[in-house]
Amino acid sequence: MRHTAILFALLGLSQTAYAEARGAALFAQHCVVCHQAGGEGTPGFAPRISGTLGKHIGTEAGRAYLAQLLMDGMVGPIISGGERYNSAMPGFSSLGNEDIQALLGYVTGTLNESVAASVDLAAIEAARKQKLSPNEVRRLRGL
Ligand code: HEC
Repeated sequence: MRHTAILFALLGLSQTAYAEARGAALFAQHCVVCHQAGGEGTPGFAPRISGTLGKHIGTEAGRAYLAQLLMDGMVGPIISGGERYNSAMPGFSSLGNEDIQALLGYVTGTLNESVAASVDLAAIEAARKQKLSPNEVRRLRGL
């Protein structure tokens, strides 16, 4: 990642462009295996996360849910797009706060076309400190 940062600095590209590229690279590395490259999900296992998250992105509680989900994962039944899922997503608390932020930026911005959605580092740190079980994270989501 450091080399990418230097390359972007040399090319004179903005911090925003760098964060976007970093989010895309992290998504390819950690998420595509279950959610697929366009976020369309894996039928019967992992829900679609492109175009489906507006209701969470639009509220502070929803953004707190997304930050907690990335930290601690989630398990148990949810409904997404009228389909029922009942599986498990791992947490990614081994990643740093800035990587989590870049991932959330990619998911909310690129996959859900929301511009008003950036999750600040303080909220991500709060999620890290709070540390919930995957089942409690699902309760934050609601149905
Ligand atoms: C091992 C497979 C797997 C990986 C890897 C994975 N997920 Fe998930 N993800 C899931 C599953 C399964 C669920 C639903 C869990 C449930 O049924 O409770 C989910 C749920 C989600 C949701 C919530 C969707 C909603 O409607 O509330 C988001 C957002 C999400 N994942 C993003 C990511 C991101 C970003 C990454 C990479 C950092 C990632 N996932 C990695 C399997 C995975």
